[in-house]
Amino acid sequence: MSTLRTPASTPRTTDPDWWRDAVVYQVYPRSFADSDGDGLGDLAGVTSRVPYLGSLGVDAIWLSPFFPSPLADGGYDVADYRDVDERLGTLTDFDELVRAAHEHDIRVIVDIVPNHTSDEHEWFRAALAAGPGSPERARYVFRDGSGPDGAEPPSDWVSNFGGSAWTRVPDGQWYLHLFAPEQPDLDWTNPEVRRDFEETLRFWSDRGVDGFRVDVAHGLAKDLSTPYRPSNEQALPLDGSDPLYDRDEVHDIFASWRRVLDEYDPPRAAVAEAWAPAPRRVLYARPTELGQAFNFDLLEAPFDAAAFRTIIERNLASSEQSGASSTWVLSNHDVVRHATRYGLPEGTDTDAWLMTDGTTPPLDRERGLRRARAATLLVLALPGSSYVYQGEELGLHEAAAIPRDLLQDPKWVRTGHTVKGRDGCRVPIPWTETGPSFGFGPVAPHLPQPADFGAWSVEAESGDETSTLSLYRAALAARRRLQRGESLVWTEGGADGVVAFARHDGWRSVTNFGPEPVPLPPGAVIVSSGPVADGVLPGETTVWLA
Ligand code: NOJ
Repeated sequence: MSTLRTPASTPRTTDPDWWRDAVVYQVYPRSFADSDGDGLGDLAGVTSRVPYLGSLGVDAIWLSPFFPSPLADGGYDVADYRDVDERLGTLTDFDELVRAAHEHDIRVIVDIVPNHTSDEHEWFRAALAAGPGSPERARYVFRDGSGPDGAEPPSDWVSNFGGSAWTRVPDGQWYLHLFAPEQPDLDWTNPEVRRDFEETLRFWSDRGVDGFRVDVAHGLAKDLSTPYRPSNEQALPLDGSDPLYDRDEVHDIFASWRRVLDEYDPPRAAVAEAWAPAPRRVLYARPTELGQAFNFDLLEAPFDAAAFRTIIERNLASSEQSGASSTWVLSNHDVVRHATRYGLPEGTDTDAWLMTDGTTPPLDRERGLRRARAATLLVLALPGSSYVYQGEELGLHEAAAIPRDLLQDPKWVRTGHTVKGRDGCRVPIPWTETGPSFGFGPVAPHLPQPADFGAWSVEAESGDETSTLSLYRAALAARRRLQRGESLVWTEGGADGVVAFARHDGWRSVTNFGPEPVPLPPGAVIVSSGPVADGVLPGETTVWLA
């Protein structure tokens, strides 16, 4: 008899390798669909849109955190890892969502946030109450301060959101937080922390979850020996020598996670959010660890033929080395949407641009979208899995002019109001052409939407063959038919600035990154990101040929 654990709900198909070439759609639950009219998206809202996701043609959804949270960081401050925030629903709603997704043969990935809890997690409350030296404090990183009376932080480490990475508590000790002060870092050398997270993985796996996205996977192991060494995170060292990030000890944690994930049939998938250079990123993706790691290179790359080709080559080589499949990401909830990035002059500092409410330098919206469509179609032809961020299938631009008093991102406050942060890509998405929140829900949403959002709605784009939604639908349907194997062969593009490759059985993708038209290689057009006719491939356009 098998000793493997069987979950409450399973997808219709059983391929254990589904994740290797899946199209994964990222849902930011608070901004997807509001079913109960409180202005905040919820799980029942996601369930109501599962048929939409089914017809879009995605293989899986990744839910950003929906756990109880005081929302100091959009839900990445978790107060209870095994429950649903009451504003977003209940565990029964979660089970219903998983059941509905599985019925459409869509897998469900949940986001695990192991580097830090919320300061409202019962462990942190207990740590504050119990005082210095207690086992309760030993789950976190509490230290005495420096300076004669301990009034200075233990080290000069800075938080990712600005300011010191240490905060002092009333009894005089300091605790470490790589992010906001409301996100105290856990101490992963503590066996209780390890055991508890393994139980959380089982909790969600038992409920039918098919995989996990692991937040800040590269941050769990820290060198806390004294004297504290300065962190050189910005330089991303290649050798694991940073005291805070990407240290070798972290891999033992994920090896034990893999043993838990393998208790299930099929084994649960996992993808690491590990901001490490490619040669070290592959370590997280080994089959004995999480299995996949995000490759964020395209998030940081310009729309440029050489840049894309180099990144693709490098990542395919890395995944061959690790045994993982590659991952491709153009947008997510942490970066300016790719339609907008590509419509700004190359090298634009998007933080500074957002501070001008998106006016300076001016955004070329059409060009940005044209390029975004071309980049997406290229990426969808690559071997490996592709991550699609909610709303990119509508061609949404960043909402750059959110009034300052409505901003939610902790970066805004922590940087002394000099960086607006990530709210512009987290604005609730438009479903209908009109209505108080363009179909997001019955009332005004928790973040204001741009006035022209109705024109970009699912309703407006559904009937339009030339819309971005129609492009995604056509591309995902064709990909589902065509995608197999994990190799590509570069082919002659026929002109500078053209990136062309062949997959198998004659399936080819050709992207003209340049502004001028080039001759279209021979073949039947399967799908194209813009109009192709008369043997011509226009500028900033991708075509799939057979
Ligand atoms: C990465 C998440 O994607 C981001 O949204 C969050 O702020 C940090 N991790 C901290 O959890």
